[in-house]
Amino acid sequence: MAVFWNSTREIVTGGAVAASKKRMAITVLPIAEARISERVATAVRNGLASSPKRLPPWLFYDEAGSRLFEQITEIPEYYLTRTERAILSADAGAMIARAAAGERLRITELGAGSADKTRLLLAAAVRRQGPVIYEPVDVSATALAEAQVRLERELPDVMVAPQVMDYTEGLALDRPAPGERRLVLYIGSSIGNFEPEESAQVLRGIRAALSPGDSLLLGVDLVKSPDILLAAYDDAEGVTASFNGNLLVRINREFGADFDTTAFAHRAVWNASASRMEIYLKSCKAQTVQIPALDMTVEFGRCECIHTENSYKYQPGQAESMLVDAGFMPNATWNDRRGWFAVCLGRVE
Ligand code: AVI
Repeated sequence: MAVFWNSTREIVTGGAVAASKKRMAITVLPIAEARISERVATAVRNGLASSPKRLPPWLFYDEAGSRLFEQITEIPEYYLTRTERAILSADAGAMIARAAAGERLRITELGAGSADKTRLLLAAAVRRQGPVIYEPVDVSATALAEAQVRLERELPDVMVAPQVMDYTEGLALDRPAPGERRLVLYIGSSIGNFEPEESAQVLRGIRAALSPGDSLLLGVDLVKSPDILLAAYDDAEGVTASFNGNLLVRINREFGADFDTTAFAHRAVWNASASRMEIYLKSCKAQTVQIPALDMTVEFGRCECIHTENSYKYQPGQAESMLVDAGFMPNATWNDRRGWFAVCLGRVE
């Protein structure tokens, strides 16, 4: 599919535009590709120079990493996606009705990804009000353009208006039309990959972009038995291990590094006191890695780890407290039968 730049701030997607409906332009906020690769370089340089070594989890999501994450969502041990989808299947109508409170809804999704579960909410909104404007927000214009084509084909009453921006640096949204409320979706437990002070900041940033009557739907993973958590982050097929190891493949490709990916092992740990799953890349031997584009030599001791991700698991009621702290009024919470996952609606009063 062709993507045409028609100004420094807009992309218009080409291809089959239905005669009856013009495809909406992609809004691109000025986070140019150059700035993103500068951020990647800084994260790799600082993370591998620090002690203990660490890399931020957003680095996972290059093209291959995003594909591997989609595969993770389908493995038997990774209950998160399936469980949240079951909640949305059962309760999307109620979620939409509560958020709309008698008005029309415009739906904005942060870190939209494949937007697979979102379809359930969009379909519920279409059933309730007819045509719906859907604004997926992501840093990848390509991923958004693909989602736009797919969603508009599958849900003809949904107008997709992609927004290319990094919502972690603040959210710039125009005001919905009179008689319209905005519902922001932040599902998939993405909030769990931030440290507590960062997640509080992200939620405050969302609140600052909203107006009274608007809402946020937040999906969070809840604390459960360590056996279940450990299996979800260290699956038998090794998909999570490949997802983790792809970080090294990415650094080799983008910075000319010589990581021997077979000399690092995937490690998953449940940290009960911090209430989080942690994943690491463990060096199987003492080794030296060169990263020419960053002018770096990195030494690894045997069993030394790179900490690549935290995935926080919350207590029941904790997401509601986080919403309150960010300035939302908790409105309703939906859970699955086993109480493994929570989807919470917070409203701006
Ligand atoms: C995207 N995020 C919510 C996933 C999680 O469960 O923390 C990323 C992931 N990491 C390992 N498996 C999946």
